[in-house]
Amino acid sequence: MSKSQQGLEFRAVAKAYGATTVFGGISFAIGAGEFFVILGPSGCGKTTLLRMMAGLETVDGGAILLNGRPVEHLPASERGVAMVFQDYALYPHMTVRDNLAFGLRNMKVPAAEIAARIADSARALSLDGLLERKPNALSGGQQQRVALARALVKRPDLLLMDEPLSSLDPALRLQTRRELAGLSRTLAATVVMVTHDQVEAMTLAHRVMVLHDHQIQQIGTPLEIFTRPANLFVARFVGATPMNIFDGAIRRGRDGHAEFELAQGIVVKTAIAFAGLPDSPEWKLGLRAEHVSVGGARPTARAKVDFVERLGELSFVHARLDDGREIVAAEPGLSPHQAGADIGLKFDGACAHLFDATGRAWHAPEAA
Ligand SMILES: Nc1ncnc2c1ncn2[C@@H]1O[C@H](COP(=O)(O)OP(=O)(O)OP(=O)(O)O)[C@@H](O)[C@H]1O
Ligand SMILES: [Mg+2]
Repeated sequence: MSKSQQGLEFRAVAKAYGATTVFGGISFAIGAGEFFVILGPSGCGKTTLLRMMAGLETVDGGAILLNGRPVEHLPASERGVAMVFQDYALYPHMTVRDNLAFGLRNMKVPAAEIAARIADSARALSLDGLLERKPNALSGGQQQRVALARALVKRPDLLLMDEPLSSLDPALRLQTRRELAGLSRTLAATVVMVTHDQVEAMTLAHRVMVLHDHQIQQIGTPLEIFTRPANLFVARFVGATPMNIFDGAIRRGRDGHAEFELAQGIVVKTAIAFAGLPDSPEWKLGLRAEHVSVGGARPTARAKVDFVERLGELSFVHARLDDGREIVAAEPGLSPHQAGADIGLKFDGACAHLFDATGRAWHAPEAA
């Protein structure tokens, strides 16, 4: 079997619930051993995709290939897939040990092998002291680790996780994220994780698929998604704070790059070749907060501070331009600015993105 056939592939997979079409025909490929994250807002079809991969949901058309083999008509038990559900779905009347062993006994794995696998995964996920307890005697984070261990003991070719960290508190989230990152390095399996938390996606994924409106918006590495978003949706959805987006007009600058007139007297010189841009009745400019700085000589624009988010190593300064439009700037460290202060803002136009009327993004060759 050629290497290109390894991994998981969706070919024009269609899915509807009654009259509601969730996917008209979705196609993408995930490489063997890849940590692939599906990112998107609530209701966009993330869980549906995972359930179709797992064999828990039928498909209405197209093919799903696992390591080159069509599996869309195979029952879940014959796919070599394990899934961690959004709500863990542990068996409440069984001990942790029995929760872990249950699926393996059904798969007719010998008892000694079951014991060894449980010991392995208990060690990897710090469950050693908890094996004789029942789920209701565990914290949320511990239950989450049991759910993960229950999937791992099956030694699946494909590990599916549906928002595995969503019910954890921030500290446990970070710790479990670290465990997941470590596991994915040692695990031979292909991992597909669903989340609507973009920090999780950016920190764990080899590649991210952004899903919205039942459509793939973009597939790329976290860096690509962040620095070269394919369209307005991705630009707004990805990032610690949404990208600043402004309406305005473009024109050809003297150096051949596009200039964006944000308002009278506020002109942003981009590094995007004007000649490469299509005709479009409208344009928008996108600039991340990191590329709007406060103070400095010859500011691009003046603004009044609304409020400041001081996050420690970084502050986000939320302000308003003279015409009332909102803008967010980033300042290193703890910003000294207070609400109501008048500030100058400097735009780093070389890092700006343009969006045509269809929402498609246009970037500078080296936009970062
Ligand atoms: N069993 C079902 N019957 C009918 N409609 C369904 C069913 N399951 C999901 N849907 C619908 O299909 C769409 C996709 O649902 P899905 O659960 O896949 O979204 P999701 O991206 O996982 O959302 P969330 O982030 O809230 O978990 C939604 O509009 C949902 O209402
Ligand atoms: Mg879901």
